[in-house]
Amino acid sequence: MESKTGLKGNVEYCLGMTHKKDKMNLTTWDVRYSIGIDELDDHHRYLVLLINIIYESFVNEVQDCDLAKIFNELTRYTEYHFCTEETLMRDCNYPDYDSHKALHDQFAKRLQDIQAGFLCNKSLVSFELLTFLNSWLLTHVTKTDIQFGKFIAAEQKKFAA
Ligand SMILES: [Fe+2]
Ligand SMILES: [Fe+2]
Repeated sequence: MESKTGLKGNVEYCLGMTHKKDKMNLTTWDVRYSIGIDELDDHHRYLVLLINIIYESFVNEVQDCDLAKIFNELTRYTEYHFCTEETLMRDCNYPDYDSHKALHDQFAKRLQDIQAGFLCNKSLVSFELLTFLNSWLLTHVTKTDIQFGKFIAAEQKKFAA
């Protein structure tokens, strides 16, 4: 279990990077990524931000230990986000819960493997890895999470009628 100081340090490091001028982005947040659930949209926005920070760090050839810090935060926050999303789905008896959770589990495992590579000093970030992370997230949000957003909107309509 990571110490609070370590976690706080990682979050501060990531947020500090957002204040830099001339940022390079792999993805710019866009309204088409919104699924209509504010809390989850905020989470997705932060995940896009973290991937952008990793991308910028990669392009600027920052040290592996600094990249590992951001990866740590990406892994931690992704797990937190998946847990929040899955709790909401269970609370609403979402019918596609199992298949959606299976996609989360696969991606979380992949992130853990990448992070383990950093800990063993074996893994280096590549452009292929960054495009994989980026496209997984955006595809998941716009194809899978959006279905949950639509389900919630339909449920709310039922109750409002
Ligand atoms: Fe999801
Ligand atoms: Fe999500």
